[in-house]
Amino acid sequence: MTNEGVIICQNFQHDLTKAVSQCAHDQVYILTDETTHELCLPLLSNISVLSDAKHIVINSGDVHKNLETLANVWQTLSDGGATRHSLLICLGGGMVTDLGGFAASTFKRGIPYINIPTTLLAMVDAAVGGKTAINFNGLKNEVGVFQPAIKVLLETEFLRTLDSYNLFSGYAEMLKHGLISNHDILNELLSFNTADIDYIRLKQLVAQSVSVKEGIVEKDPREQNIRKALNLGHTVGHAFESLAMKRHRPVLHGYAVAWGLVCELYLSHINVQFPRDVMRRVIYFIHDNYGTFPFTCDDYEQLYNYMTHDKKNQGDTINFTLLNDVGELRLNQTASQSLIYEMFDFYRECMGL
Ligand code: GLY
Repeated sequence: MTNEGVIICQNFQHDLTKAVSQCAHDQVYILTDETTHELCLPLLSNISVLSDAKHIVINSGDVHKNLETLANVWQTLSDGGATRHSLLICLGGGMVTDLGGFAASTFKRGIPYINIPTTLLAMVDAAVGGKTAINFNGLKNEVGVFQPAIKVLLETEFLRTLDSYNLFSGYAEMLKHGLISNHDILNELLSFNTADIDYIRLKQLVAQSVSVKEGIVEKDPREQNIRKALNLGHTVGHAFESLAMKRHRPVLHGYAVAWGLVCELYLSHINVQFPRDVMRRVIYFIHDNYGTFPFTCDDYEQLYNYMTHDKKNQGDTINFTLLNDVGELRLNQTASQSLIYEMFDFYRECMGL
């Protein structure tokens, strides 16, 4: 598996022209969803190497990250006479880059693809690191492959038009990257003025955040070991996401991760002595910027059951990534049911429930 090249764009049109030209190809396909087709595709309209590109537009939203949409993409590639030397460009959020990456990695046993993420979450997480997937059988990311894009182009200008809800969702993954890297990066993230976004500064923070992820993926592309660090906050976060879905009030992934971080920092503090003052600072930041996920003690069992079904578990034990300090990872940790319930008590108390 080769590593992807992540490019922090200084001149988007020039950088994309270069990336496309460097990949020998016979045809180019551009995959968008309805939203990025309307809002982002116009930025590619003057690029001469793309003047003959064919367009594939899919429905927006995670519910469409499914086999039917994937089959439609394969169908369009096949009908268009795409060969193993054709290039797919995925322009969109994580749904487009996950599904597009999977379509490219499987069509004719694999064609090259370039990711151009347009949301903060996709820039710092989904589009980087070679995880591709669709949802299947009611389960998120149930079928997919590890296959990196040949290039990932990060154009942070797209963020200027991103709504704040989606911006904060992506920022939660950046906080996670701060927690698993070092105090300096974490402190920069915690002191960023989220009430008045400085997009130049955000671009620097995005570049830094992506390099944290790249460094980890390079060492462990298939998540056998250190890549599990990227799951910090996700074991509890996925349970919150599932409960929100069951209530028909879905929450954005990054919000669930932020609330999951509150819980998993508490476990880190109790089980492996993560410093209390750092935990407090992160929790204040999350409380102030993300609000809270409401639940009562009647939901504990349901949340616990969701956690036992997390696909990262081996056997019946719930698998956590914890920290004994910022950047000091403790992989493959477990916690008893009573400690997990105590963690929910802590969450409700400190988040004002
Ligand atoms: N989103 C976590 C990972 O890429 O491993």
